[in-house]
Amino acid sequence: MITLSTLLLVLAADSAISVIPRPVHVTPGPGAFVVTGTTVIVTDRATRPLGELLGDYLFPATGLRLAVRAAAPAGARVITLRLDPALTGLGAEGYRLDVTPGRITIRAPQPAGAFYAVQTLRQLLPAAIFRQARVPTAVWTIPAVSIEDFPRFRWRGIHLDVARHFMPKEFVKKLVDLAALHKLNRVHLHLTDDQGWRIEIRQYPRLTQVGAWRRQTIIGHSDRDSTKWRFDGQPHGGFYTQDDIAELVAYAQARFVTLVPEIEMPGHSQAAIASYPELGNKPDTLPVWTAWGVDENILNPSDATIRFEQNVLTEVMALFPGRWIHIGGDEAPKTQWKASPLAQARIRELGLKDEDELQSYFTRRMDEFLTAHGRSLVGWDEILEGGLAPNAVVMSWRGIDGGIAAARAGHDVVMTPGSHTYFDYYQSADTTTEPLAIGGFLPLDTVYAYEPVPAALTPDEARHVLGAQGQLWTEYIPDPKRAEYMAFPRACALAEVLWTPREAKSYPDFLARLATHLARLAVLDVNYHPLKN
Ligand code: ACM
Repeated sequence: MITLSTLLLVLAADSAISVIPRPVHVTPGPGAFVVTGTTVIVTDRATRPLGELLGDYLFPATGLRLAVRAAAPAGARVITLRLDPALTGLGAEGYRLDVTPGRITIRAPQPAGAFYAVQTLRQLLPAAIFRQARVPTAVWTIPAVSIEDFPRFRWRGIHLDVARHFMPKEFVKKLVDLAALHKLNRVHLHLTDDQGWRIEIRQYPRLTQVGAWRRQTIIGHSDRDSTKWRFDGQPHGGFYTQDDIAELVAYAQARFVTLVPEIEMPGHSQAAIASYPELGNKPDTLPVWTAWGVDENILNPSDATIRFEQNVLTEVMALFPGRWIHIGGDEAPKTQWKASPLAQARIRELGLKDEDELQSYFTRRMDEFLTAHGRSLVGWDEILEGGLAPNAVVMSWRGIDGGIAAARAGHDVVMTPGSHTYFDYYQSADTTTEPLAIGGFLPLDTVYAYEPVPAALTPDEARHVLGAQGQLWTEYIPDPKRAEYMAFPRACALAEVLWTPREAKSYPDFLARLATHLARLAVLDVNYHPLKN
């Protein structure tokens, strides 16, 4: 029988444990561990960098520079981190975290798991631990608990479009930090589009000399009648140098985040065509686009253009060590290819049926190229339309059908349906109280309710669903503060969709934990959308 006092104890313990995403197994214990100046962090060789990272996380708010050692000094109260091959069953990213009043023990089969244990530990501390200056009044209490934890999905992503609005390097780092705090492990950078090219490519300097800058930006939504368009008259642009990219990659790697670069082709390429007009289908010189929408100015399908894009990808691969290279592939209208003698000649000489097959030919050339270099091509679901390249991974954004078709064909899939993962959509039913957004309606509870594995798939096919990802398209997201507003707390809900076992999810329980979690985001200066409705 449960007595009232036990129940109160359990409730008190539970309310102290407001971890997002919810861990798989949480067993509260009696008492608490208090971090003080004599606490020592003890690591093995493999977890040493993580012990130092934990020390760095704890230092600003506590003002305590905890010693990191290879062995525990006699009598010291320790936080131990070590790899434990006996826990291999927890998978590449799982961990055990045991907190008692006398010691904290983190064990994981691999470093990623120990990293996620550290993220959980941060969330067990008072929210003030996220301050970047000393909080003299705080007591750094961690409630006793045993946690065993591992993710449901391998691909837990957030995407950021830095092409429509350039986002400073420091914000990309902040997004990586926030991803890691929520145990997300992919940050997808949409680096190129009609409105801007954001990565230095040394072989083709005009891509950033010309392509990184636009003269002005359309105000509001594009009317169908382009004579009604109005512009802000403000030049906009920016790009990451290769040194910036190297810095971002290292920053992300240290936080177990893989950056996934996206170089769009053959559509969404007007900034590239503005830089090198020979990439287009017409002789005209185009500006970097100043409006939003689907643009008919796509790349031509010549061998020279394919080589150009492969040369770009060579530099991209040298910078981004991760396996996945995204080539876009979405929204490539075929109007110009239909009218182009060159494109039509290619269709004939390659024995293709139509322009969709020509795009698939283009994509297949990229797939062969990336595969030969040990990488995997990722594309939006339009890459299915003229036949899927043999090794392609599909991002299913126009609903879930592309994901189902690709998984059935034996391809890996990342679920990114607009209906549940487009964080550029409105998050309140009353849009009059919200800043202008692209449209749509994606409230927090809809994100939380999302089930990434389509019901139509067999268990064998479902194994191809790597996970899902939230999208931040930035036509109507002009700056980092707005990006935070659109991403949070919806990214918190998606993190739980991707990490927590399906049967352990509960929206009321999530909301209760979120109340505590929002205090953390506030300390971290995240401009989250307040809970209302
Ligand atoms: C997309 O939203 N065009 C992938």
